[in-house]
Amino acid sequence: MRELSLHILDALQNSVEAGASRVKLTIVEDLTADRLTIILDDNGRGMDAETVKKAVDPFFTTRTTRRVGLGLPLFAAAAQQCNGDLTIESELGKGTRIRVIFQHSHIDRAPMGDICGSLLTLLLSKEPVDLHYVHRVNGSQFEFDTVEIRTELDDVPLSHPAVCDWLRDFIAQGELSLRDRG
Ligand SMILES: Nc1ncnc2c1ncn2[C@@H]1O[C@H](COP(=O)(O)OP(=O)(O)OP(=O)(O)O)[C@@H](O)[C@H]1O
Ligand SMILES: [Mg+2]
Repeated sequence: MRELSLHILDALQNSVEAGASRVKLTIVEDLTADRLTIILDDNGRGMDAETVKKAVDPFFTTRTTRRVGLGLPLFAAAAQQCNGDLTIESELGKGTRIRVIFQHSHIDRAPMGDICGSLLTLLLSKEPVDLHYVHRVNGSQFEFDTVEIRTELDDVPLSHPAVCDWLRDFIAQGELSLRDRG
């Protein structure tokens, strides 16, 4: 895939499919250590040890609509191509943590891409899911939690056109501020 944001969206959708109501996405760009780390934590149904082992195998899926699942194997391959790796920690009934590491400056590392688009796709999907997002670039950080945003909004849904516009601007500005300083 050309953009990391698409791998991230795929992993976020796995969390939703696993019944998660809450997801934490942490992106840490450590330019000094030349490392990009992406961590996804969810409170979905989790996987047993056997399923974890199989999850990075493209011929394993619990989908019933088709027989290959490509999300995690492609994400893992992208990381391995860049001196990194993808690891899964999971516990049945508790949740899952996906950790992906890349060499930041690696020539084959895909750009982050439209992370704002991926987050909005998750937040505006029919499944009600809360997201805690943290993006750090060296010493700068952009962070938000939809639990807090929803409290501020009372009963207005995130999908309300005015809220949606505001959210898009808010995330775009937050990401931009990291680029300016990073
Ligand atoms: N966060 C998660 N929680 C629980 N199970 C997961 C999670 N992520 C992946 N899995 C399990 O690993 C399998 C493989 O995931 P993967 O994303 O590679 O393929 P898929 O989601 O089945 O299909 P695709 O991503 O190609 O649409 C899933 O079918 C699911 O059983
Ligand atoms: Mg998937």
